Amino acid sequence: MQFPITRQGLQDIAQFLIAGALLFGVLALVTRQRGNSPRRYLQSAGMLVGLTLVSYVLAFTVAPNIPTPPVPFTARFMTNPVPDTTENIDAGRRTFQENCAICHGSRALGDGAQAFTLNPKPFNLQVHVPLHATGEVFYWISNGVANTGMPAWEGKLTEEQRWQIIRYLDALAAKRIDQ
Ligand code: HEC
Repeated sequence: MQFPITRQGLQDIAQFLIAGALLFGVLALVTRQRGNSPRRYLQSAGMLVGLTLVSYVLAFTVAPNIPTPPVPFTARFMTNPVPDTTENIDAGRRTFQENCAICHGSRALGDGAQAFTLNPKPFNLQVHVPLHATGEVFYWISNGVANTGMPAWEGKLTEEQRWQIIRYLDALAAKRIDQ
């Protein structure tokens, strides 16, 4: 079963709820200063805080059913150990064309030959890679993405090859290379 709302979506909702709770909190303060009863506003704020908790609990309990797998927090702090050189970018391009282009497309735009058979479809990596910490991208490439067609490459490509692909994708996304 696939849960229609993603963890990210639930966290976004929670942020709106927090903003709402703060607003009601401020209204309650203002009302009290004017000498009126802030009860109604406090009740609303309390309800929103409750809903915020529910959103977070759902986000982190139903999460295993959600396409984006929980990426360990530490992945954010990883840096690419492979230097940003033409040789590594070229090697990354070769590995990518051999293994990934069939789904992700030869320029990583998400338009590979096999893409239309997949649900969800591969994203445009030129857009998505810069949106994430490099260690998160490495984690997805290594472990795959749960409930999608994205396989894990840990046993199939060396660590160096996976980091070289990221050098290639970074260069592509930054338009330093054309393909
Ligand atoms: C069988 C098809 C297929 C192959 C082969 C494949 N992928 Fe994927 N990939 C997907 C799908 C489907 C997704 C999930 C949708 C998404 O997140 O883009 C995905 C997701 C990703 C993501 C996460 C993107 C994000 O922002 O969430 C990265 C990075 C990625 N793939 C890189 C690669 C690399 C590098 C290779 C080759 C070593 C590869 N993929 C091979 C289908 C594939």
